[in-house]
Amino acid sequence: MVLNNDDAADPLETDGPLVDPIADQPHFHRTESKIAVAGHPIHAMLVAFPVALAISTLGADGFYWWTGDLFWARAALWAGGMAFLLGVLAGISGTVELLLVSGIRARAASWTHFVIAVMLLSVLGANWGYRLTTGFEEAVLPWGLLLSAFAAAFTAITGWHGGKLVFDYQLGTSSTGKG
Ligand code: HEM
Repeated sequence: MVLNNDDAADPLETDGPLVDPIADQPHFHRTESKIAVAGHPIHAMLVAFPVALAISTLGADGFYWWTGDLFWARAALWAGGMAFLLGVLAGISGTVELLLVSGIRARAASWTHFVIAVMLLSVLGANWGYRLTTGFEEAVLPWGLLLSAFAAAFTAITGWHGGKLVFDYQLGTSSTGKG
């Protein structure tokens, strides 16, 4: 039997223009926030707190290293704890948004943000837990400070990527301008 290559179906050959099956989903462009107050996404309001507190923890650790003043070690314990707890709260609002809004759920970038954010929350939790179990003063040098530096870098990456979702993909934004 002679096989003619011309008869074999070309998997790359299409009848019409190429279609992205994800972008073709009926609700792909439904990206408005559902977890919002008068159209303002709660996640965007909450994320400011873990971002600021994670950076403050690093700052307080640095001041403790520089001055030896116990106040800064105690401030780092509180800032680190609040960074974790408010981060979890922000994470819950973001996750509900991700699961409920079909256009957000359909985009790979949203899931990338979810994975980076959960990794950040585990670093924030480890930093606070280490201080609680070791003692807030003993914990700072060197591991507390190193964990805070790692958490601050991870916060920057997560925050930058979250901003990308809003400013590049317009996720969570209103298309009508109405609340
Ligand atoms: C753990 C699960 C998380 C999920 C599923 C998630 C999901 C999202 C989604 C869907 C958006 C688009 C805007 C919206 O719909 O509200 C967003 C924006 C954003 N996220 Fe997250 N997020 C999570 C955690 C975090 C955490 C822990 C941070 C803290 C660093 C963070 C920082 C941001 C920032 C800065 C924005 C941009 C807000 C704006 O500029 O309006 N996210 N996130």
